Amino acid sequence: MAQRYLKIFLRFVRVLNVNLIVIISIANNTILKGEKMFNPSSFIQEAIHEIKKTVGDKKAIIALSGGVDSSVASVLASKAIEDNLIAVFVDHGLLREGEADYVKNTFQKRLNFRFVSAEDEFLDKLKGVEDPEEKRKIIGEVFIRVFERIAEEEGAEFLVQGTIAPDWIESQGKIKSHHNVALPHGLVLEIVEPIRELYKDEVRILGTKLGLPPEIVNRQPYPGPGLAVRVVGELSSEKIEICRKANAIVEDEVKKEGLDETLWQYFAVLTDTKVTGVKGDIRDYGYLVILRMVESLDAMTANVPELPWNMIKTISQRITAEIHEVTHVALSVSDKPPSTIEFA
Ligand code: XMP
Repeated sequence: MAQRYLKIFLRFVRVLNVNLIVIISIANNTILKGEKMFNPSSFIQEAIHEIKKTVGDKKAIIALSGGVDSSVASVLASKAIEDNLIAVFVDHGLLREGEADYVKNTFQKRLNFRFVSAEDEFLDKLKGVEDPEEKRKIIGEVFIRVFERIAEEEGAEFLVQGTIAPDWIESQGKIKSHHNVALPHGLVLEIVEPIRELYKDEVRILGTKLGLPPEIVNRQPYPGPGLAVRVVGELSSEKIEICRKANAIVEDEVKKEGLDETLWQYFAVLTDTKVTGVKGDIRDYGYLVILRMVESLDAMTANVPELPWNMIKTISQRITAEIHEVTHVALSVSDKPPSTIEFA
């Protein structure tokens, strides 16, 4: 009898032991997961609470580019302060085909959205400028001037930014979240960065949770100075338009091939070089366009993968057929380093 009870007891201990191990390991995993896993619903609630607490009933402004970071920050902040957030989209005339309309259509129904057409202002300041760094500097300055004008008009006291963790980790380490920025003419705005602790994958999860369309959530990174870094040499409306059309063809064919999710960036560069060609029976003299398609994890390094030859040929044929100013298409095969991703 005693033996039977001992057996039952030992069995109970064994089961309990196993259960304890299972329970401990489940609890452990949950705690670890709790730390590791990003919970978009609770993040949204906390972020809304924080933004409300900081901004109160004052006005805030955000530069919305249509990229995933600024889009997510805009939607999040507008959930907190509603129409007191003014999302400003500046069309600098260097956008991709259909981009301005797409961003407008996506956001004007969701946000207090302000569309600013400033193409002439930008092009005017860029006249005669060939140096890529100089172009970037001018674009940055004009952008701030336009933005400051709007902030003043709107009476904003806060600036919401879509800064994410790699932005400040790579630049200057952890700076405190509440800091101010003085715009060139003395307007001082307090900065609010609701997604500054997040990484890109978390921002994308948040974007989906906030109901942003996949085109925004998965958008290929697009440089702030836009097509200016893809047109070599002095900018003109004509050259920007050629580059825009060539880029649209590249994007179209890359998407058809299903490579848009694996490539980091894919685009066309309009060089300043003109080469002889023949169209029909007539000699022609037109631009050389270079195709650039790279894989990358963080843009610090990049490599050119093997690309489907049919796709490259189709892109080349379409560009020379559909854009009469182009006579020649070449493919860039250089990795980063030594080359950079963009051409300018
Ligand atoms: P590079 O050309 O330096 O580009 O290899 C690395 C990544 O950064 C993007 N890029 C820019 N983004 N302003 C931006 O906002 C810029 O002036 C700029 N230049 C390059 C580029 O598209 C790539 O993803």
